[in-house]
Amino acid sequence: METIKSCLTKKTKLLKDNYVKVPKLEARLLLAKTFNKDLNWTYSNTEKKISTKKIRVYEKLIKQKINRIPTAYLLGNKEFYSMNFKVNRNTLIPRPETESMIDEIKKNFKKNKKFNILDLGTGSGCILLSILQEFKKSVGIGVDKYLKTINVAKTNSKKNYLSSRSKFITLDWNNPKFLKKILQTNKNFTSRNKFQLIVSNPPYLLKNEMKSIMPEVKYEPYESLYDNKDGLSFYKMILPKIHSLISSNGYICFEINPKSSNKINKICKKNGFANFKFIKDLSKKKRFILIKN
Ligand SMILES: C[S@@+](CC[C@H](N)C(=O)[O-])C[C@H]1O[C@@H](n2cnc3c(N)ncnc32)[C@H](O)[C@@H]1O
Repeated sequence: METIKSCLTKKTKLLKDNYVKVPKLEARLLLAKTFNKDLNWTYSNTEKKISTKKIRVYEKLIKQKINRIPTAYLLGNKEFYSMNFKVNRNTLIPRPETESMIDEIKKNFKKNKKFNILDLGTGSGCILLSILQEFKKSVGIGVDKYLKTINVAKTNSKKNYLSSRSKFITLDWNNPKFLKKILQTNKNFTSRNKFQLIVSNPPYLLKNEMKSIMPEVKYEPYESLYDNKDGLSFYKMILPKIHSLISSNGYICFEINPKSSNKINKICKKNGFANFKFIKDLSKKKRFILIKN
């Protein structure tokens, strides 16, 4: 029987030969998944023997990795803002750059403030649930076009003990009844008319960017990446309507494609917003727009 150590050595080499990045870590993560243990376990059990049955499970995961299935999908979860989120092929994998949005919100809202949030295109629910985790008196609604996606967000709200302060609904922002449905849901859930904070990380890749996405990204939901147009559909659709949703002195924070910042600047001005700024991410790219109503 093989030991963990010998198996790890072989599979690391196999991943490396197949050009998988950080093969050592990937081999370990997938081994931990095979045994339903954490990464530390793989370091402290190197001489443990692996059964043929477990080897088969491990080899299947390794094969999927070689086929570039994202590790987060193979593990079934992803960390975001120090919280653990279930992910699957119905959700975008939360990105580290999105975490800066939570930092920005923390600069603008007091820790004990009671406020209500709307998250458009919630995916795994990572943005909304991280904000709720930071602001213990806040409540929020997450919206996504797909029921299967919303079901993952709901699981994440339960997993992180936030289901009493969050509500997730399936709704397309292009639906003519979009505003009516959001306002009604808000009224029923929070007894309020408007939101103090509206956040979103909408699909914003450009057509030419879609042609050169990494093989792993091709496994993520197409509509979470690209709007089939110019990567601006969300901003063009939402900003003219958002006055009906945002309370006075409320904040709007959207993730953006750094390449589209000039165009988004124009869309904001055209829709009567004057008080806004772009926020850079850790690699100094304009990654968010923060609008004050
Ligand atoms: C870039 S993902 C963001 C997911 C999550 N908020 C995050 O940051 O990881 C965009 C999300 O918008 C949703 N979406 C795309 N088009 C939509 C539409 N017309 N109406 C509602 N949601 C939509 C997608 O299903 C996807 O979950």
